[in-house]
Amino acid sequence: TEKPLLVIAGAGSGKTRVLTYRIAYLIKSRGVDPFNILAITFTNKAAREMKRRVIELVGRIGEYMWVSTFHSFCARLLRYEINHLGMSRNYVIYDADDALSLVSNVEKELDIDIKRFPPRAVMSVISDAKNKLIDYEAFSKKAVDYFEKIAAKIYGLYQEKLFKANALDFDDLLMFVVDILHLFPEVRKKYQEKFKYILVDEFQDTNIAQNEIVLLLSEEHKRICVVGDEDQNIYSWRGAEIKNIINFDKQFDDTVVIKLEQNYRS
Ligand SMILES: Nc1ncnc2c1ncn2[C@@H]1O[C@H](COP(=O)(O)OP(=O)(O)OP(=O)(O)O)[C@@H](O)[C@H]1O
Ligand SMILES: [Mg+2]
Repeated sequence: TEKPLLVIAGAGSGKTRVLTYRIAYLIKSRGVDPFNILAITFTNKAAREMKRRVIELVGRIGEYMWVSTFHSFCARLLRYEINHLGMSRNYVIYDADDALSLVSNVEKELDIDIKRFPPRAVMSVISDAKNKLIDYEAFSKKAVDYFEKIAAKIYGLYQEKLFKANALDFDDLLMFVVDILHLFPEVRKKYQEKFKYILVDEFQDTNIAQNEIVLLLSEEHKRICVVGDEDQNIYSWRGAEIKNIINFDKQFDDTVVIKLEQNYRS
């Protein structure tokens, strides 16, 4: 079946197993080229494990499949495409500590009191905005209170410094991919054609940016399969949108919804 598929179940009910077997089925029974499959997991460890399982089921040909987290998927895509945003392909990724010290430096440069505007708090506001695809311009426009107005100034200079250093932070990885896929139809088309089959594990944990990436890549062919747990939105504190899973069948008409009942782990 080529209909969008949403698998919902509780913990330990075999959701990840369903994804792994579905990939094996696509390759072995449907003759799908692993080169055309994108599988997204929530951790690098889960990605390695899924790839290992698929290779066990279908053989070495499984090597060609992209299995990764959203972040490493985006980092890989940007290695090819970031020039569209005026940066160069050897860009560096700032980790949380690098990003935090850049925010501190920016505050110093702007003469902002770090006691009133703790870099960590400002960083989390910026991060939250990026995960909602709110860039510096949009953020400044909607800033109302004093804290937001200062945060907007910091966000602006922070972004400028990242750009000058040819660097991005973790959240930019997602937001920049969304930007490129939005702004450059030929790039979007290229990846829609490459990733003819898209599968996402732990879909309940996706944020707005991640959901948008899935939509942009699958909107043409709609060969999308996501699995998730409605009761397990443990990442909501860092921007996950339970709405993504609840609205999935509104974003894709004729979604087939499957519920797994049994728990195999307990
Ligand atoms: N149909 C099945 N028959 C036998 N064992 C199964 C079946 N489905 C899953 N299992 C086993 O149950 C365990 C949990 O499976 P899996 O990791 O796929 O579940 P999950 O729903 O993804 O769990 P989580 O909520 O932790 O992500 C695994 O050890 C798996 O091998
Ligand atoms: Mg799982």
